[in-house]
Amino acid sequence: MGARPELHPPEYFDLVAIDRVVDAIREVSALQPRVGLILGSGLAAVVEHGMEVESSIPYEDLPYWPMTSILGHPGKLFLGHWAGQPVMLMQGRAHYYEGYTMAQVTLPVRVMQRMGVEILIVTNAAGGLNPAFEPGDLMLIRDHINLVGMVGLSPLRGPNLETFGPRFPSMRHAYDPELRALARQVAEELEDIPLHEGVYVGLAGPQFETPAELRFLRSIGGDAVGMSTVGEVTVARHGGTRVLGISGISNKAVWDEELEPTHEEVLEAGRVMVPRMARLIEGVLRRL
Ligand code: HPA
Repeated sequence: MGARPELHPPEYFDLVAIDRVVDAIREVSALQPRVGLILGSGLAAVVEHGMEVESSIPYEDLPYWPMTSILGHPGKLFLGHWAGQPVMLMQGRAHYYEGYTMAQVTLPVRVMQRMGVEILIVTNAAGGLNPAFEPGDLMLIRDHINLVGMVGLSPLRGPNLETFGPRFPSMRHAYDPELRALARQVAEELEDIPLHEGVYVGLAGPQFETPAELRFLRSIGGDAVGMSTVGEVTVARHGGTRVLGISGISNKAVWDEELEPTHEEVLEAGRVMVPRMARLIEGVLRRL
């Protein structure tokens, strides 16, 4: 099922390749997006909760764009308005574990930047390392630990694209403090949105963690763990894009749990998270 990864996928893209994707999108839509949205595992239906879609483009129609191959990731780009904001929304994302390079995984963020996107709202399904988190809860990402990036799998590896940012970019305020405050305010005003705040640990996957790994991830300060997001955020920050990150807790990732997480469980919790995520995002968009 799904796309077959290339045998020798590109390790990095230059501006010409990135702009080729931009041109392909511009052929379909003249929209000038201000906000980029990435919907993660099980969250595809968020797009049906209020976005006024003006154009949609299947990923396979875009050059270089990585296609998604797993359940719950239809793989479409939507352009339109949501709560008055011009947005570009990705329904589904590619993951490193699918066989793509980090450059491929994060290409869409580069494209968003060239399209003029100023704010990236990135979502994911994550396991809750923090014992206080329950499946279906949301967690505002305060900071991340990019484990795969720290040991070498950075999407910024390769020639630096000066057009976007410096060789050694800061990751101090990776998750914008003002946007986080705005999201907290929205969650307080709306009822029934349990919103935690914490540190997201990014792993490569696709295997879930051993009990020893979970204990380690908790001990280094992780509140949630997942297999995406950190690369995209790294690229976003390199290019000066402000980021709001929201994890939907799809399962408990604690070492004394009897039950191991399954992909089905992730999708089921997604169904609970979808309306909450959609209302939170809409509230934030309305206040931008
Ligand atoms: N671990 C890693 N990634 C995940 C999990 C998990 O428990 N749940 C959803 N994505």
